[in-house]
Amino acid sequence: MNRSAKGRITRRIIAAYDDRIIRWYCTIRFRIINLRMLEEIEQYMPRKGTILDLGCGFGLFSHYFALCSKARRMLSLDLNGRRITLAKEAARRLGTDRQTNFRAMNVLDYPFDRPVDGIVMLDLVHHLPKGRADEILTHCYRILATGGVLLIKDVEDRPLWKMAFTWILDKAMDYRTPVNYYDRDRLIALLRERGFEVHSHQMLDILPYPHVFFICRKTSPHGEGTALPQTNLQSHSGHS
Ligand SMILES: C[S@@+](CC[C@H](N)C(=O)[O-])C[C@H]1O[C@@H](n2cnc3c(N)ncnc32)[C@H](O)[C@@H]1O
Repeated sequence: MNRSAKGRITRRIIAAYDDRIIRWYCTIRFRIINLRMLEEIEQYMPRKGTILDLGCGFGLFSHYFALCSKARRMLSLDLNGRRITLAKEAARRLGTDRQTNFRAMNVLDYPFDRPVDGIVMLDLVHHLPKGRADEILTHCYRILATGGVLLIKDVEDRPLWKMAFTWILDKAMDYRTPVNYYDRDRLIALLRERGFEVHSHQMLDILPYPHVFFICRKTSPHGEGTALPQTNLQSHSGHS
C-alpha cells in the first residue's frame, strides 16, 4: 500500500467520527503521529494475529492498523468510556467492527489473560501512575507470543523545553491525568529486565515533541534471545 492510499485511510478514519471537535482532534493527532511515523511503527507490527492497543483513546490508530491489514484483530483498551463509545461507533462506519474489540478499562485492571502477537502503546506510558509501568511491562512480556513485538511510542524527559511543551499540551487535554515522563535509558533498562530485546530511537518532528520509539522484541520464552533484525530504521538518531 503506498503513502497516498494510507493518506486516504487516515481521511476515512477522521470522517468516521460524528463530532466536529473529535474530527479536529483526530486531524491534529494524525499530524502529531504522522504518516511517516505510522509507517515506521507499522513495519514492525505483525500483519496478522491479535494486537493489543493499550490506551487507544478514540481508537484512530487501532482503526488505522486494522485497515492496513485485514488479518489483524485489534483488542483496544482505554480508561475513558466516552472515547471507547466513539471508537465503536467509528468502527461501525468504517466496517472495522469485526476486526476491532474496544473495551473501556483501566489497563492496571486488565487481567492480561489472552495471548497476543503484538502490543502497541502510543503515548500511554507517561500517563501511568508513577511506578506502575513496571507491572504492565511484565504482563506484556508474559502474554506476548515468542517472536512478538511490543511497540512503544512515548515522549522522553529531555530536553527540558520540549518536555515542558508536551506537558502543557498533556495537561490542556486533561488536567487530572498523571504525567510522568520517563528517562529513556531508565525505560530501556525496565524493558530489558523483563526480558525484551530493545532498540530505541528518537522520532524527529517539526513540532517540538521529544518523541521516542521503542521496538521491544520477545525473542525467546525466557528472554535470552537473538539480535533484532535491522529493518529500515528511518528518521532516527541516538540508537540505544
Ligand atoms: C495521549 S492519549 C493517546 C491515545 C491514543 N493512543 C493515541 O495515540 O491517540 C492517552 C490515552 O491513554 C488513556 N489512559 C491513560 N491512563 C490509562 C489507564 N490507566 N488505562 C487505560 N487507558 C489509560 C487516556 O484515557 C488517553 O485516551
